[in-house]
Amino acid sequence: MKELTRAINNHLASEFQASHTYLAMSIWLREKDLAGFSTYMLNKSTEERGHASRMIAYLVDSDEEVELPTVQAPERGWPSVNKLFDVVYDMEKGVTASINRLYSLAEQVGERSATAMLDWFIAEQLQEEAEARFVRKRLRLAGDNSAALLLLDQQFLEGTALSYVKGNAAGVGSVA
Ligand SMILES: [Fe+2]
Ligand SMILES: [Fe+2]
Repeated sequence: MKELTRAINNHLASEFQASHTYLAMSIWLREKDLAGFSTYMLNKSTEERGHASRMIAYLVDSDEEVELPTVQAPERGWPSVNKLFDVVYDMEKGVTASINRLYSLAEQVGERSATAMLDWFIAEQLQEEAEARFVRKRLRLAGDNSAALLLLDQQFLEGTALSYVKGNAAGVGSVA
């Protein structure tokens, strides 16, 4: 197996593990009746599977082998929503580092189709980290105030919690 193919296959573990961890987080948040946070995590879990699918499609299209990884059982609980988002942030930083390594390797071996495929992931990770950082800051502001936590949960339910991160019309720099 080519070094780059092996590295992409290894990276699949990060995406599947993230998907599994976000699903576990969604369940835990649902148990705490934080329906907005829970739905957000469930969507993230689906998104991560989509990331793995993108890379799998790339390998298949390139006539390279796919080896699906073992996925470890995730944690079943977290000390607080604050702590949970620390884990999210660290996990996304780890995924970004892995993508960056893949990118460097693809450049080294001159595999332009791989760098083109990875360009999407570079932009995606920027977004993922920005989101996690934003939510973490909001949660720090909320502190131990459950009313503030419930307000944020409601915003997730309504789909407005990340309006200022999404790089959309409502984001920073918008004049409207
Ligand atoms: Fe991902
Ligand atoms: Fe992610």
